[in-house]
Amino acid sequence: MTGYTKDQIDQMKKDDMRYFLHPTSSIADIESWGGPKIIEEGSGIRIKSVEGKTYIDCGAGLWLNNVGFGRTELAEVAKQQMEKLSYFQTFNGYSHPLAIEVAKRVAGMIPMDNPRIFFTSGGSESNDTAYKLARMYWYLQGKPSKNNIIARTKAYHGVSYGAVSATSLPGFWDGFRPLVPGFHHIEHPHCYFCPWGKEQGSCDLECTDALEQKILELGEDNVAAFTAEPVIGTGGAIVPPEGYYQRIREICDKYNVLFIADEVITGFGRTGKMFGMMHWGVKPDIMMMAKGITSGYIPMGAVGISERVFDPIKAHGIFMHGYTYSGHPVACAVALKNIDIVEEENLAVNAHVKGEQLRTGIRDLMLPCIGEVRGIGLMNAVQLVQNAENRTKFNSNIGFAKRVSAIAWENGLALRPLVDDGLQLSPALVITETDVIELVEKLGRSIEQAHFEFLGNQL
Ligand SMILES: Cc1ncc(COP(=O)(O)O)c(C=O)c1O
Repeated sequence: MTGYTKDQIDQMKKDDMRYFLHPTSSIADIESWGGPKIIEEGSGIRIKSVEGKTYIDCGAGLWLNNVGFGRTELAEVAKQQMEKLSYFQTFNGYSHPLAIEVAKRVAGMIPMDNPRIFFTSGGSESNDTAYKLARMYWYLQGKPSKNNIIARTKAYHGVSYGAVSATSLPGFWDGFRPLVPGFHHIEHPHCYFCPWGKEQGSCDLECTDALEQKILELGEDNVAAFTAEPVIGTGGAIVPPEGYYQRIREICDKYNVLFIADEVITGFGRTGKMFGMMHWGVKPDIMMMAKGITSGYIPMGAVGISERVFDPIKAHGIFMHGYTYSGHPVACAVALKNIDIVEEENLAVNAHVKGEQLRTGIRDLMLPCIGEVRGIGLMNAVQLVQNAENRTKFNSNIGFAKRVSAIAWENGLALRPLVDDGLQLSPALVITETDVIELVEKLGRSIEQAHFEFLGNQL
């Protein structure tokens, strides 16, 4: 059942096309469909369109809905907090009980030494905050030339000017130059398409040498920090090889470079542990968080700041940076309850177990155009290839993953294509075994249909 008539839905679509500029969406696609896909409701891992059809949300929104849709307890705490104190600033020496509680709770969870927490409204703001902290740290050490930041290809760190300068995915820089100066990129690790032509397990982690080389090229005295997503997200759910981050940490320490981990997706259980860096026992100097901190029920982000980075700022006396919504009381109320749910329902463990089941199920489909099924916990991607034997990619102009996603929508899956013919599979962490079976069956059917069509067009 839906609350809208066909005429109302048609009008909504027209109004959307007339008034709404969507983030990172093809305007031509929306127009060719006669309007956007309008989602009206959500429950658990599923969403419902205004036409009344239900879909499995394979991406958990934008990798963020850890606890699933329809959690009335989150709505309840938000309502209570709005009634009690809808907003107050945390600038100018003000605080409020829930911001203090979230800071203490998050500081106690993240793999960092005696961290302080800074609040933001989302991932891009957390990233900008982290780069400013890194540059200020070296400035306060009397080393202002240590201001370059090294990121990686295929990185996604957001779209504000600092964050987009660290991001390195097709299209995000076009028309927006000049970017923020001082951002550099090294090749990201991806064993399946190893840029160094090596095989996993028999290499010398050449992907980490790339960082050392870049630091030497720029000069140790000019590098503030290296930043990475523990597991590359939007770039394709790419898990680094074993030992990668341990060596990265050693290189950062050797050259006195801060290590900044962007845990915006990987935080709060998604990878099967509470934070991504916990898989490798590596502690960053600064950590960015957002998304899963509230499961997207309300915008919020945070930055973890190690004692090392905080101490000089304390001595300096002020961090001249902040957002109106830093530590918003309603967001803090939702964050606390959301973290309770993630912990009480063991959602990180469920992510680990269902992630294994999902990857095994997809591999067992044995489809010739599935090259790699990769991921960790419930942060996964299917790599579609034209020829799995020699890992030949589809011609990117064909947009095979895009075609699979379009067919999957008809089959009841909200599925997002990633760059280079990947498919994002990161459902809410509450997914059940039965849900996984349904998802795999619908995905397999969609890929087969698209491949059949592709082969037909080749004739
Ligand atoms: C790793 C990572 N960092 C930062 C961001 C930017 O977050 P936001 O869109 O909340 O600004 C994202 C968003 O997808 C992300 O995946």
